[in-house]
Formats: sequence, C-alpha cells, structure tokens
Amino acid sequence: MPVITCIEDLRVLAKKRVPRMFYDYADAGSWTEGTYRANESDFQAIKLRQRVAVNMENRSTRTTMVGQPVAMPVAIAPTGLTGMQHADGEILAARAAKAFGVPFTLSTMSICSIEDVAEATKAPFWFQLYVMRDRDFIERLIDRAKAANCSALQLTLDLQILGQRHKDIKNGLSTPPKPTLANILNLMTKPRWCLGMAGTKRHSFGNIVGHAKGVGDLSSLSAWTAEQFDPGLSWADVEWIKKRWGGKLILKGIMDVEDARLAVNSGADALIVSNHGGRQLDGAPSSIQALPSIAEAVGRDIEVWMDGGIRSGQDVLKAWALGARGTLIGRSFLYGLGALGEAGVTRCLEIIHKELDLTMAFCGHTQIQNVGRDILLPGTLPRAL
Ligand code: GLV
Repeated sequence: MPVITCIEDLRVLAKKRVPRMFYDYADAGSWTEGTYRANESDFQAIKLRQRVAVNMENRSTRTTMVGQPVAMPVAIAPTGLTGMQHADGEILAARAAKAFGVPFTLSTMSICSIEDVAEATKAPFWFQLYVMRDRDFIERLIDRAKAANCSALQLTLDLQILGQRHKDIKNGLSTPPKPTLANILNLMTKPRWCLGMAGTKRHSFGNIVGHAKGVGDLSSLSAWTAEQFDPGLSWADVEWIKKRWGGKLILKGIMDVEDARLAVNSGADALIVSNHGGRQLDGAPSSIQALPSIAEAVGRDIEVWMDGGIRSGQDVLKAWALGARGTLIGRSFLYGLGALGEAGVTRCLEIIHKELDLTMAFCGHTQIQNVGRDILLPGTLPRAL
C-alpha cells in the first residue's frame, strides 16, 4: 500500500480501483476539457507571498458557512453516482465529513437515498436539488430533505441540460454497468470494488427509484432521468423552492456578476461560483477567475463560495484570499473514496486541512479570518473579468 501524502496519490489509487466508466465519470470534463483544466491551472498560476519571523502559534482555520461552524471553509460537494465510486459511498463520505467537522452535501442523483444517509449518520447534512419537470416529485424531495433534518438546500442552476462528456458516451455510462464484454473485462480487474458492491443493495439512484411516478425499475429510470431535467427552470422557480424549503438556501452554478445580483435579489443565503467542475459549458472561465469580480460585486450582500479545481489546501486559501467565504471539493473527495472508502475521504480532508494550515502560517497568518488578498502576489492573479 503506497504512502498517501497528497490528493494526487488518492487519484492514482482510485484510478486503479474504480471501474473505468465511474472513474471517468468523476474525473472528466465536457467537450475539450479546456475549462476543466483551467480550473486547476489558474489556481497553480497564483503565487503566494512568504512572510517570516511571524509568531505561528495557535492557528485556526475555523469559520462558519451559512451560520454553521466548520473546521475549515470546505464542504463536500454534491456529486452524482458517489455510491458507484465505492459501495455505499455517500454514507461513508457523510460519516467522514461529520467526524472532521465539515458539511456533506448529498446529490439528488446519489445512490444512497436521503433516508439512508440520515439513518447512517444521525447528523444534519445538506441536500442538493436538481429541478425536474415533475414538480410533485420535487416537492416530495424537498419534504423528504426536511424530514431528514437536512440543514441547508443547494439548488443547482447550471444543469437544465447536460454538457456533452465524450468519455461517458464512449463508455456507455449506466448504473449498474451493463454486462458488455468490455465492462466485464474491466470489472475483473477491480475485485475490491466488486466485493463491496456485492455487499450492498444500493446500486441505483436511491432518491428516485420507488419515489418518482412511473419509475419502478432500471429501464424506466434511464428513460425518466433523460427527459426530467427541466430546461424551463427560471428565477420564479427559485422563489417557489425557497418558499417550500423555508431554510438556508444556497444557489450553485453562478459565473456572471449579473446572475450574482439576481441571486442576491432571490434572498438566498449563499451562492457558489461554479462551472460544475468544467463539466457543463466548456469554454467558460475557470471558477477562480470568475470569483473576484463576483465577490467584489455582491460579497457584502450574500456569502460567496466557489468550487472547481481545488486539489489542495493552498487552493482553499487562494480562494479565501480572493473573497470566497467557503469552498466545495468534488473530485478530491471522490478520489479518496474510490481509493480507500471512508478512510480515503478522511485522508483527503486531513491533507487539505494540513496544506491550508501550513500555507496560512507561511503567509504570516494564524487565523483564517484575518487572511486577505494581500497574501497573493498581485502580478500572478487571474485577469479580472
Ligand atoms: C452531475 O452533477 C454531473 O456533473 O454529472
């Protein structure tokens, strides 16, 4: 077993252990993957100012996200098919997040259901909502999230239609995988994964099967999901969802200052600057490039967070310095989950926390609350949008 010291180590191990179609689903971006790559490379281009002879004792990365105390400004992002990276993946990741003191977000398109995660963790988590054409189903999902004691709702605004992901099409992505020769040969090289899956009954979309009208089995499920994402989603729907939910509301997928202002007007508690990990509009700017102008425009009126490209605690600190009061990690935790299950998610959080804490100290700070833009070298910042 290799010694794991960084997120890249977890990615390499996950690639070995997770069936190709699910690894690719998590790892890839849309079309040319230009935005997906820029999410990471734009972070790397930003340089930090090293300071010395500053007392580095008693450091803290603690803060709050929508009023909830967190060990660091990091939450687990909602990711579809998490339970296909590892058996019962959502439950394992939620447990690791709870133990570490950061929020876990369950996707509408999860394998473990809202009720499964609530039962297994006995702690509030966040729920992410996609708006589907079947509004009765949405109302029931919101009510189920309330009944499960979810403490915030993340509404995704950038996936009314799906960005084309070449690898998913080529791999014939489906859950569970179809018994084609290519899939069988690939699964034969993933014995741990197969063993885990043999030990759980959760192999398909737990929030949908048995809950949406007309979806009782897998063949009806694929037809249902293909036609359910609602291209007609509007700001009026945001208002309706906010009212029905009645709790903390976070809007995900904002990349433009105009939309950020509309998010403020909607009365949401937070917005997430996000290009969906480079999985939707390829050709959009990186999230870290979009962040500063949005934070400057609305950061006093709403909590501004970001996701996309975070592979280290240094990225979290850079995002914080550019105005993000929270970040979300998707692929980073999925690599940990695919590599080592719950222990891998814990390892991912430990790695990010350690990198964040040490970097903050090297930049001359002991309290994340006091970190500002001045820790970044001005000539290395992404060009303002
Ligand atoms: C879902 O959120 C996806 O990006 O596939």
